Amino acid sequence: MSTPLVAGKNCTVNEMQQANNAHSRRQNSDPELPQAIEKKQPSNLKIQPRIELREATKADLKKIVEIEQECFSIYRLALRQFAHLLQYGKCDFIVCHVGGQLAGYAISLYRKNSAEARIYSIAIHSRFRQMGLGLSLLEEICSRAAGRDCKSLRLEVDFSNEVARTFYKKNGFLENGIIKDYYGKDMDAVRFKKIL
Ligand SMILES: CC(C)(COP(=O)(O)OP(=O)(O)OC[C@H]1O[C@@H](n2cnc3c(N)ncnc32)[C@H](O)[C@@H]1OP(=O)(O)O)[C@@H](O)C(=O)NCCC(=O)NCCS
Repeated sequence: MSTPLVAGKNCTVNEMQQANNAHSRRQNSDPELPQAIEKKQPSNLKIQPRIELREATKADLKKIVEIEQECFSIYRLALRQFAHLLQYGKCDFIVCHVGGQLAGYAISLYRKNSAEARIYSIAIHSRFRQMGLGLSLLEEICSRAAGRDCKSLRLEVDFSNEVARTFYKKNGFLENGIIKDYYGKDMDAVRFKKIL
């Protein structure tokens, strides 16, 4: 089911205009709109992009793999793993679109007889970061987990990934221990947990 949202945070006009391309094209081709009005728009005007969250589909996989490659240097999920997750019943696999462009994805996993869900991965393409999209995906994941009667969410993050650690802490997750060598020798993970 698709959830249309509107948000715009810390985003440059360029990014917004790119994201909102279809909308801009419609505006610019409107014969009723005098040129003078278009030119008078202040340079710091924030255009609100249209953000859409929905279930991932097979057609999204190529773009999702590109995002994965761009966002992670180790433990990247491969096309066949994403394809498997699409078929897997015990997960939420959501994508985020901005102005018609796929900007990121999030996956959470569920276990039978467990009231704790696990965030498997969240990634936003670098072009679309710090616009609130990661937050939108995270809120959607939390809301879906609560809807499945989960009481908590857990995840692991690379210890050196300061941005992700700040991101989760900002959104109500608490650090819950270190897992030594989780990603390989001297590559520890931080465990996070949020009570829903
Ligand atoms: C982590 C990630 C998903 C955040 O996505 P995002 O869309 O840029 O995040 P948002 O714009 O929703 O930011 C939400 C909060 O996260 C924190 N945050 C996001 N980017 C940050 C940055 N570069 N530096 C510091 N804090 C940051 C802030 O607290 C921010 O809230 P604020 O803007 O009110 O201060 C994104 O950086 C990403 O995809 N990184 C690469 C993949 C990854 O590390 N995934 C997480 C591990 S699974």
